[in-house]
Amino acid sequence: MSFNIHHLDSQKGKVAMVTGANNGLGKEITIGLAKNEVKVIMACRNIKKAESTKAEIIKTIPSADLEIMELDLNSLTSVRNFSKSFCDKHKQLNLLIENAGIMIPPFVKTVDGFESQMGVNYFSHFLLTNLLMPTLNKTEGARIATTSSIAHEKGRIDFDNLNAEISYSKMGAYSQSKLACLMFAYELQRRLEKTGSKVIAISAHPGVSKTNLFSNIPKLIQVLITPLLPFFTHSPEKAALPMLYAVLGDDVKGGDYFGPIGFKGMKGKPGKVNSKPHAKDKDVAKRLWEVSEKLTGEKFDIK
Ligand SMILES: NC(=O)c1ccc[n+]([C@@H]2O[C@H](COP(=O)([O-])OP(=O)(O)OC[C@H]3O[C@@H](n4cnc5c(N)ncnc54)[C@H](OP(=O)(O)O)[C@@H]3O)[C@@H](O)[C@H]2O)c1
Repeated sequence: MSFNIHHLDSQKGKVAMVTGANNGLGKEITIGLAKNEVKVIMACRNIKKAESTKAEIIKTIPSADLEIMELDLNSLTSVRNFSKSFCDKHKQLNLLIENAGIMIPPFVKTVDGFESQMGVNYFSHFLLTNLLMPTLNKTEGARIATTSSIAHEKGRIDFDNLNAEISYSKMGAYSQSKLACLMFAYELQRRLEKTGSKVIAISAHPGVSKTNLFSNIPKLIQVLITPLLPFFTHSPEKAALPMLYAVLGDDVKGGDYFGPIGFKGMKGKPGKVNSKPHAKDKDVAKRLWEVSEKLTGEKFDIK
């Protein structure tokens, strides 16, 4: 079945949360949701940037219902404070979209001592999901969507070097974090099913799109590859569609994975795609879950 963002049933009444909504794909996902009358909580670390994105969106979609809340995924305390404020204020969360991410920064640790890509892209979202679970469970038809990447294919969950304790490879840590996001969605879906929860977990990847995510690539390489970009990238607007399919599509099942179905999964129309078999390794996913509970200091309560 094909997905068309312009031909959806009314989504009015739904509440979505998008992490990293101020920029890049998060901004396009927010626009797609707002056009379909979904209220969006923009969970952003920089309120000024978020205010300016909100104003820009409202200029073109005056009816957009956007609320900014501060969330810095670099700190578990921020995730806890944010989740508490959200749950105190809101009784409903239909769509949790874990989009924010960073790629190939120099080695740096988060406030809690995680390697930054693992911390921001994966561990903080793991904790966020856990803390929002009671509200998600209370919301009819809720969906939780993580953001993966083609990079998951080369990723490996290295339990001995999860937070670059032994060595740091920028791309290795990024790939590991994106594999972790995907495995988390699969494992979460298995656990949700076991408890009989109606919430579903899915994942999506955008293919390749030139956004700020690439700002850590050396400038010379950026200049050299610019003429080739049209061959293997698509616009942020198109790259947001797999996630919009995952959260708004009506033929979506828990455990589905979405991405572009064009050239090598880098661009093209959104559709259901396959992940590499190692992403479906249940033993690794279970162990990663247990380690994540230990490292975030919070036991996951699905019920
Ligand atoms: N673009 C691609 O080709 C591509 C490919 C595969 C997967 N992805 C994934 O898609 C997602 C979105 O990436 P993008 O391309 O849109 O990148 P982007 O333009 O750099 O946007 C990333 C967003 O994440 C936010 N963010 C970063 N660190 C944060 C933190 N500590 N706390 C809260 N928010 C934080 C950024 O906020 P600031 O604006 O304040 O920095 C920004 O809003 C990421 O998960 C990425 O891994 C992208």
